[in-house]
Amino acid sequence: MTLAVTIAGLRLKNPLIAASGTFGYGIELENFVDLGILGGIVTKGLFLKPRAGCPPPRIVETPSGLLNAIGLQGVGVASFVHEILPRLARFDTAILVNVCGDTVDEYAAVTRVLEDAPGVAGIELNISCPNVKQGGMAFGVDPLLTHAVVKEVRKATRRPVIVKLSPNVTDITVIARAAEDAGADALSCINTLLGLAIDVETRRPRLGFGTGGLSGPAIRPIAVRMTWQVAQATRIPVIGIGGICCAADALEFLIAGASAVQIGTANFVDPNVYQSILRDIERYLQRQGVARLTEIVGSLRYPRQQ
Ligand SMILES: Cc1cc2nc3c(=O)[nH]c(=O)nc-3n(C[C@H](O)[C@H](O)[C@H](O)COP(=O)(O)O)c2cc1C
Repeated sequence: MTLAVTIAGLRLKNPLIAASGTFGYGIELENFVDLGILGGIVTKGLFLKPRAGCPPPRIVETPSGLLNAIGLQGVGVASFVHEILPRLARFDTAILVNVCGDTVDEYAAVTRVLEDAPGVAGIELNISCPNVKQGGMAFGVDPLLTHAVVKEVRKATRRPVIVKLSPNVTDITVIARAAEDAGADALSCINTLLGLAIDVETRRPRLGFGTGGLSGPAIRPIAVRMTWQVAQATRIPVIGIGGICCAADALEFLIAGASAVQIGTANFVDPNVYQSILRDIERYLQRQGVARLTEIVGSLRYPRQQ
């Protein structure tokens, strides 16, 4: 039985990837999780320069979910390359770097810095963060801007470019196709949904930034639906993300058409969740009499969407 998958020419030993922003830069977890069992890790988002992020509170719990406005706090791409990346080299897992920018030029510049760095398996382009005043989600909700930024980043690297889609749009397939047309190798689906939680006593937002991004099981049916739509609308692989906590959750995305999945909010509950998910996916494949995980991908028994 094999759980290996290939995405954009990248062979992953299994389909489980730690989602950006919920797993630090990977090394923070090295004493708690055997990083070598992961198919891959997506780093926290990186800009050219270090960033302080949003004022606290940055995280609040909501029913079956988490609302966050971290604001892409980060060490900057140069510091990541020189101080963190070498420490990740000893782990047998694919390192994907989540690339951010205030402008198209910054996205391309961050990508160029990574181009010469050893140990980067691919780029995940974050055009979907709802918690920053410039850039971020603004690119991912507009097909022309999506096309422009993907095209420039495509020119800046030979590595796989995975574009992370925003769910905060009317029709996610329009953005997905724009990214594909501009040269994306794969799509991550989805980033967080824009939300607002209010403290009724103070009548102020519960997050320091005001609005935030909703994640966790609360968003899973939306994420599965969007993954299903995007997988049908494009020819490139899709990585499903949103509220995955157990094997059945991951399998929903794979059956909907995702070639791999990312796990985010569940890391805050148990960063060792990967072991049990892998075990239970294997048991599922055995029960189904399937030898390769890839046979499950896109196997939804449901009429195709027009
Ligand atoms: C605290 C927090 C920080 C995040 N930071 C990033 C980030 O830096 N870049 C990014 O592309 N997505 C970021 N995300 C979005 C996640 O990678 C993921 O797309 C989203 O949380 C949905 O998956 P989940 O329900 O499994 O958490 C963040 C999510 C959370 C909860």
